Amino acid sequence: MIVLGIETSCDDTAAALLQDGKTILANVVSSQDSVHGPYGGVVPELASRQHIQNILPIVDGALKNAGAKLADIDGFAVTYGPGLVGSLLVGMSLVKGLSFRSGIPFVGVNHLEAHLLAIHLEHDVQYPYIALLASGGHTLLYLVKGVGEYVHLGGTRDDAAGEAFDKVAKMMGLGYPGGRIIDNLAKTGNPKAVRFPRARFKNSPYEFSFSGIKTSAWHYLKDQGEAQWQARQADIAASFQEAVVDMLVNPTLRAALAHGVNRIVLSGGVAANSRLRAKMAEKGGGEGIQVFCPAPKFCTDNGAMIALTGYHWLKRGRHDGYELSADADLTL
Ligand code: KG4
Ligand code: ZN
Repeated sequence: MIVLGIETSCDDTAAALLQDGKTILANVVSSQDSVHGPYGGVVPELASRQHIQNILPIVDGALKNAGAKLADIDGFAVTYGPGLVGSLLVGMSLVKGLSFRSGIPFVGVNHLEAHLLAIHLEHDVQYPYIALLASGGHTLLYLVKGVGEYVHLGGTRDDAAGEAFDKVAKMMGLGYPGGRIIDNLAKTGNPKAVRFPRARFKNSPYEFSFSGIKTSAWHYLKDQGEAQWQARQADIAASFQEAVVDMLVNPTLRAALAHGVNRIVLSGGVAANSRLRAKMAEKGGGEGIQVFCPAPKFCTDNGAMIALTGYHWLKRGRHDGYELSADADLTL
């Protein structure tokens, strides 16, 4: 079965062709970083306009890379939430149109579920596993027992981890999206230079909070003065990153130990962070827990994870109808 997966939930326009849930025939992504960069964050109206411009060339490119025609596709998979409603509608409208014209079925995919399953694009991970999903919009912890069997363990009480990376990078004038920039800058910095606070909830061991560290970074930069902190950018980036990584690693490890699960899977854009991957592997390894991370291109938004998730549901016989609408606040 060949599935064409389409993702337009935020600021990446992506399409992929996946065969039998295993072989990636094509995976094409067009990011809009240069469009949103000057604003330091995603501007929804610009994102949907950009998707309209990008979507047909991206889908054509994916078909061409795979050496396939539309008639070779057995099913379409498209993100229907959560995300920016205008952005979601671009992918959904295209897929509904293609499905109507060709008679090929389609399924709507939950973007969060796709991140949780992305690991299976490259690794043969057995169930159950504890999955940390950390992206620009979400920070969630799940016990994953199988496809469609997700036990929500906790999440952030305020901001997402990726948002904290992006906002602190913006405060420091580093550019957008900030996660990868801070990750690179931190490589030459001292993670112990500044002691940023680590939020922890005694009675809610699987919950996260990143608004405090954002405020703390803002005060630190203000108190230091620009000339001072400009000279210590790498140290500040490394110290901030270390605090965020600790706040992600500790609840995830606690969840694995408490549930007696010896596999941890990282997912979402923040899972591309080199320090998070290293520290999770080191601390997990110390407890006999195996840690799996998708390649960075499968951590950030991509069409392959949408195609994979769609494949599982199409295989189970699910076909969605044209009445399916975008759901900006879809949960899992
Ligand atoms: O999953 P994703 O592509 O989109 C959402 O669904 O939100 O995640 C994007 C987020 C951004 O906040 C970005 O700064 C962050 O992932 N990110 C990183 C890294 N690469 C991307 N954060 C930390 N370190 C990275 N290397
Ligand atoms: Zn995402």
